[in-house]
Amino acid sequence: MGGVEAPIGVFDSGIGGLSVLAALMQALPHERFMYLGDTARLPYGTKSAQTVARYAVQAAEALVRQGVKCLVVACNTAASVGLDAVRLRVGGLPVVGVIEPGAQAACAATTTGHIAVIATEATVRGGAYERAILARRPDATVRQLPAQLLVALAEEGLVDGPVAEAVVTYYLGALFAQDPPDTLVLGCTHFPALAPTIRAVVGPNISIVDSALTTAAAVREQLLAAGIARTAGSASLQFMATDGPERFARVGSHFLGRSIDARRVELIDL
Ligand code: DGL
Repeated sequence: MGGVEAPIGVFDSGIGGLSVLAALMQALPHERFMYLGDTARLPYGTKSAQTVARYAVQAAEALVRQGVKCLVVACNTAASVGLDAVRLRVGGLPVVGVIEPGAQAACAATTTGHIAVIATEATVRGGAYERAILARRPDATVRQLPAQLLVALAEEGLVDGPVAEAVVTYYLGALFAQDPPDTLVLGCTHFPALAPTIRAVVGPNISIVDSALTTAAAVREQLLAAGIARTAGSASLQFMATDGPERFARVGSHFLGRSIDARRVELIDL
């Protein structure tokens, strides 16, 4: 296991996980981060569980080779169907996925126990959110909806306006028209970018849960418990992508909330 000075490895199928990285950087301001976006093989959300698990293990191995002290699976799809395979592969290294913290946040937010989850097809098929929520709150009712088109909208920066509103309404309009859930989990890294549009469609009384903050808190807790948190010194960021550093930097900047220099994105092969 890497020591205090080793970086934290974060990976996603692409750039959406940069929203999780932003939360991690806030919660852990002295850490060194190494982010890997498997942009060449995005989306994971439409692929089979076996393929996603294989890709996730390859991404994890690439980060382990860089000597990371902890791994954050900042992709709901990979965390949903690939977490066990990743844990098995990396031995004792702490591995945090976004599903458990998201389920925890949903259970904390709900009053009625009626929870909806929107995610990619593969995440919904894997059922990990439902299992994680029911493990904490067995009386909950969980509705899972695949909403794959929202990934494309977020990638295009089409996060508000009539097209985004129409697509969000297509997925969520009927569910929230009558007897709605009181909590909606954004079970995909790309969906927080659409949160204001989603809010406009579901109304003001629904709790919208984004797992980024609870994931960052879980990582902080694990590092402190293991005695490997870096608590002084300046932060650093390193980016790797399997395709298109230019696009990674351009689109990724919106998800990270700060600009990314394409020349600082290393192109790698998995
Ligand atoms: N990162 C994926 C997730 O959170 C969304 C994009 C994809 O389908 O690869 O599920």
